[in-house]
Amino acid sequence: MDEVAFLLRPRREGWVIDGTVGMGGHAEALLQTAPVGVRLLGLDTDPEALTRSHARLASFGDRVTLAHASFRDVAATATTHGVRKAESILLDLGVSSQQLEESARGFSFQVDEPLDMRLDPTAGPTASDLLDTLSEPELTRILTEYGDEPHARRIARAIVRRRPLRTTTDLVAAVKSAVPRPAWPKRLHVATRTFQAIRMAVNDEPGALRQALPQAASLLAPRGRLGVIAFHSGEDRIVKRTFRELSRADYAEIEPSPRVPTDDEVRANPRARSAKLRGLERIQ
Ligand SMILES: C[S@@+](CC[C@H](N)C(=O)[O-])C[C@H]1O[C@@H](n2cnc3c(N)ncnc32)[C@H](O)[C@@H]1O
Repeated sequence: MDEVAFLLRPRREGWVIDGTVGMGGHAEALLQTAPVGVRLLGLDTDPEALTRSHARLASFGDRVTLAHASFRDVAATATTHGVRKAESILLDLGVSSQQLEESARGFSFQVDEPLDMRLDPTAGPTASDLLDTLSEPELTRILTEYGDEPHARRIARAIVRRRPLRTTTDLVAAVKSAVPRPAWPKRLHVATRTFQAIRMAVNDEPGALRQALPQAASLLAPRGRLGVIAFHSGEDRIVKRTFRELSRADYAEIEPSPRVPTDDEVRANPRARSAKLRGLERIQ
């Protein structure tokens, strides 16, 4: 939080865009240290997240504008709200702890819930719909690409065999039936990678990221900064490659390698263990 607030501190009055405003924690940290002339546009696809960030950021009054929108459409959303350039932009990818633990949408393998997994429950097919309709090779690809799952093919076969899958318990049972017990990972739950991969597919998270990065870069004011926190190697690769390409022209990477959490941070918040923060600055 402190590192993000420091790296992305707006150095002039203007707009900050938080493309994943979530519970509003980063937004609050950025606004607290910014001059009063700095305003924030916060986007989230999850209406429940917006209700929470609205409450958390209420004391900033009309300095905060919230929008129910995907960062996939960050340029159009900025235009709608009269934002032409941004001093800083943040994308903190994935799901929040609140979504994992309290949304009852089946993001977690630890509780028995319907297999929904949509970040925006007003749109698109659910995880259950997707698992009903994808072919075995498509499922294998998703589990491999988005989950780095070494047993992707077996798990895909078990899912197809056990359809329809309606609850998180059904999906956990399919994974457990596919992976022999001695091959279960030591530090992770055996279904962790499958759940992550299916969630990323339901929400087309890598697709949204690919579309958002060039738009976000173009929205930056001169010396404006874009920061992206990724929790998954595939997403971090997208950020790394896009930043490398952009830094051939009007941008520069803020630091040569990504920032990762300290041991203390991981102890306090184990979910941070795979986080990587990369930053890009507009130089022209
Ligand atoms: C890790 S949380 C962000 C937490 C936030 N930085 C905070 O301090 O509370 C990720 C958030 O991004 C949202 N999200 C995921 N994909 C999105 C997208 N394509 N567009 C907008 N929001 C998205 C999720 O709904 C979730 O609330």
